[in-house]
Amino acid sequence: MRLFCFKQAIIVICGMAVAGCSHPATEAHRPAFHFSPRSNWMNDPNGMYYHDGVYHLFFQHYPEATHWGPMHWGHATSPDMINWKEEPIALYPDSLGYIFSGSAVVDIHNTSGFGKDGQVPVVAVYTNHDPAGEQDKRTDYQTQSIAYSLDNGKSWTKYAGNPVVKNPGIVDFRDPKVMWYEPLKKWIMTLATKDRITFYSSSDLKEWHKESEFGETLGAHGGVWECPDLLRLDHEGKEVWALLVSINPGAPNGGSGTQYFLGEFDGHAFSPADTLVRWLDLGTDNYAGVTFSNTGNRTILMGWMSNWQYAQAVPTEKFRSAMTLPRELGLKSAGNRLYLTSTPVKEVEGLSGRAEVLNKVTVDKSYTVTSGGRGLFDLELRDVPAENFSISLGNSKGEELIVGYDKASNRYYIDRTRSGNTGFEPGFGKVHTAPRLAGGNRINLRLVADVTSVELFADDGLNAMTDIFFPGEPYSKITITAPDILVIGVLKFSEMKPARLR
Ligand code: FRU
Repeated sequence: MRLFCFKQAIIVICGMAVAGCSHPATEAHRPAFHFSPRSNWMNDPNGMYYHDGVYHLFFQHYPEATHWGPMHWGHATSPDMINWKEEPIALYPDSLGYIFSGSAVVDIHNTSGFGKDGQVPVVAVYTNHDPAGEQDKRTDYQTQSIAYSLDNGKSWTKYAGNPVVKNPGIVDFRDPKVMWYEPLKKWIMTLATKDRITFYSSSDLKEWHKESEFGETLGAHGGVWECPDLLRLDHEGKEVWALLVSINPGAPNGGSGTQYFLGEFDGHAFSPADTLVRWLDLGTDNYAGVTFSNTGNRTILMGWMSNWQYAQAVPTEKFRSAMTLPRELGLKSAGNRLYLTSTPVKEVEGLSGRAEVLNKVTVDKSYTVTSGGRGLFDLELRDVPAENFSISLGNSKGEELIVGYDKASNRYYIDRTRSGNTGFEPGFGKVHTAPRLAGGNRINLRLVADVTSVELFADDGLNAMTDIFFPGEPYSKITITAPDILVIGVLKFSEMKPARLR
C-alpha cells in the first residue's frame, strides 16, 4: 500500500527513546499546554470520549521509537481536555494486526451486551492492519474490530468475534468513526474506503450492514481518504450534517489536510447541499481531526498537529508530535454559504495568566505587544480594519513567524520561511494562505501560541490555520506591523500558563 510503504521508507534514524523522562518544560520544542506523548511517536487522535467526568484521548502510538511503526493505542485522561495525564497503553497489536485509527462510544443502552452488573460498556471500534497481508500484497489486510471496557477505559477486552467488518478487497479500508443515530435507534459507522466514504449500520456494534457510499466524484482527491467523521449540528434550529474527510496528500497548502462536506444524513446516506470543497483548517498542521463522543450538545474536535509530509523528520528529540487544542465546532454563514467554525474550547481560558485589555490601539508602523514573554500566549484582536497587517513572533536570534492578512488577495497567511529550523524537509519553510471567508471590513482574530505552534482563529472561527515551527529559542517578542496607520478596536493579550501534563 503506497501510503504505508512511504511512511516506513522515510524512517529517521535519530532521537531514539531515552530511558526516564526529563521535565517537559525543560525539553526543547515540548509544548507547554498541548498534549504530547511522554516519549516516542504519536499520530492521529483515536477513540476520544467523555464519561463520568473524564475526557479520554487515545492516540496512534509507536512506543519503541520516534518514527511510525507497529501501531498501538496510547491513552491519556483529563478532567478538562487541557490538563492531561498519560495512562498505560490501551490496545496492543494482536494476531489480526496493528491497531490503526478508530473511535469509541459509550454504549449507554448496552446494545452490545458487553455490560455486566449495570456497568456501562465503552466500546472501541478500530482498524486492524495486518502487516503480513500487506507484505504479501493482499488487498484485504485492513479490517474493523472492536474491544470493550467496563472500567471507564482503564482495561480493554478484545471481542472474540473480531473482525466485525471484513474487507471486500479494498486496500485502504479504515478508520471507523461510530455514532448513535437516534431516529432509527442504530449505530452508524463512517469508514474511509480509499477514495470514498462507506456507511455501515448496526444495532449491536458487532454485526454491520453496508448502507451507502459517498464521494467518489466529489471533493478533493489528491490523496487517499482517511479518518472521517459524521457530525450532527444545529444551525438556527435546523439540523445540518457535516462529513469530515482527511486526505493525504492533496491539501491546498501541501501534504495532509481535512476537507468537509455539509448536507443531510437520513440514517442511510449522506446528501451534500452543494459541491464546494471546504477545508477545516488551512494551516498545514491539523490532520486526522475527529470529535469526542458523548459530549452532549458540544461538538469538540482535536487533530494531530503535524503533517505526513514531514512528521517523521521534525527536530524533536524524545517525542513526536502533539495534538491541537480541543476546538468547539459550530456553523456560520458567509457569502450565502454555510461553513464550519472552530474556536478553542472555553476550558483553554483556565490557563490564562496575566491579561491586558486595551481599547483603540494605534499601530503606527509597528506596535510591540510584549517583548519579554516565553512564547505562550493567547492574543485577541477585535474590530481591526480589513487592511494589510501582520503579527510577528520573534526572538533574539532573528527568527520570526509571521501571521497576517493581505488585503489585495483577501487572504490570511502564516509565513514560516524564517521561523527557525526549517531545513529538515524542503517543503517546510513555506508561506501558507487561506482565503478569508467572512465578508465585511472589520476583522476579529485570535492567536494561541505554544512553544512550537500557533493556532489562528479568524472572524469567530470561520477561518482556522494551525502551523508548527521550531525556533532556536522561544519567541519572546510579539509585534504588530501595518504599512498604514491601523487602529485596533480591542487588543487582549494573555500570557498562558503551562498545563499540568503528566
Ligand atoms: C492517518 C492514518 C490513518 C491510519 C493511521 C495509521 O494519519 O494514515 O488512516 O489509521 O494513520 O497510523
